[in-house]
Amino acid sequence: MIAGILRESGSEKRVALLPGETAAVIKLGLKVLVEEGAGAAAYASDTEYRSAGASTASRKAVISGSDLLFTINPPVTDEITLFREGQILFTVLDPVVNRDWLEKVRARRLTVLALDLVPRITRAQSMDILSSMATVAGYKAVLEAASLLPRFFPMFMSAAGTIKPAKVLILGAGVAGLQAIAVARKLGAVVEVFDVRSAVKDEVKSLGGKFIEVEGAKEDAAAGGYAVEQSDDFKRKQQELIQQRAAAADVIIATAQIPGRRAPVLVLKETVARMKPGSVIVDLAASTGGNCELTENGKNVVVNGVTIVGRSDYPSAMPADASRMFGNNLINLLKIMTDKEGNVRPDPADEIVTGTTAVSDGEYRSPRVKQLLDIKQI
Ligand code: NAI
Repeated sequence: MIAGILRESGSEKRVALLPGETAAVIKLGLKVLVEEGAGAAAYASDTEYRSAGASTASRKAVISGSDLLFTINPPVTDEITLFREGQILFTVLDPVVNRDWLEKVRARRLTVLALDLVPRITRAQSMDILSSMATVAGYKAVLEAASLLPRFFPMFMSAAGTIKPAKVLILGAGVAGLQAIAVARKLGAVVEVFDVRSAVKDEVKSLGGKFIEVEGAKEDAAAGGYAVEQSDDFKRKQQELIQQRAAAADVIIATAQIPGRRAPVLVLKETVARMKPGSVIVDLAASTGGNCELTENGKNVVVNGVTIVGRSDYPSAMPADASRMFGNNLINLLKIMTDKEGNVRPDPADEIVTGTTAVSDGEYRSPRVKQLLDIKQI
């Protein structure tokens, strides 16, 4: 079978597979076509792809000549007519945002494997693109905060006096939050952490963070390891406690998300007003509305001397390793669907395949897509 690697559009710098990972796909028995310039923004040249054993071609030739297509962001709607029935598109889908796109692709009878919907089970950990990208985001968020903060992160005892360590407050201890704790601690900061899932308490402690518990959090085992919407009473108690801790913090790294919903608002305007001038908030939930009431997606805003960074594109800002991690996750997923002859045949009996297949043969398949889009039956 032939696999095509598409060039991303807009400001996206990553590529689904770098030359090293392309060679690994060829080893599985596939032929690979790469769109010209696909890896350029991630520092990979067409020559390197050709040396890895792939061929390079125009976008149209890659789309028409491939059985499988790998991309990070879904191709634009105008291009859907270029695709043909039965092709398998591997992409990060974000089904709620791309609902209309998905409906058009379903009608065209493509198969879409949504890389952001790989089930969160142990066997699929090595395929979890969301975790990889959250790791990059958590790391970059702390570095950005450290570079914007007009103070040191670590404690210093010097001839010029003693410098106190920075206080970092982390909201949400999922993959990005845990990475942020680790990096902030390595830089010498004192770290406090909020989450609604009590399961993360021990991980937070083992990374050197202090877990701040708010009584009465709602947890749901059926949510697949994700958080669920909280009661109004809990939200009020949590906001009060966050306000107290924020007043003492130099940095807030906000990562709290609830899949398919607006991100919870945890840092109110009044909280920002009580923070020290010069403090920094990096809001990784910016694209889903932000954890801070004043966050603007894609912008840095300064309110009362507090810089609020609303960025959701950190993985693209570190395209070399982000692409490498993305590619490795993709290959691990591909391996469970590829036979010895290099034919990719997703087996619907495999829960990873079922969970990831957004649409195929004109039908919605993934239970999670149906749940997120509230599709009863088609
Ligand atoms: P996420 O990006 O959906 O959310 C980030 C964090 O925000 C979560 O820890 C969540 O509990 C927290 N949060 C949500 N609402 C909040 C609120 N109101 N206040 C404070 N915190 C709030 O989550 P992410 O990072 O994608 O992963 C969540 C969990 O999924 C992981 O910690 C892990 O347990 C599980 N997981 C399992 C994997 C596997 O087994 N293959 C792979 C990756 C994650």
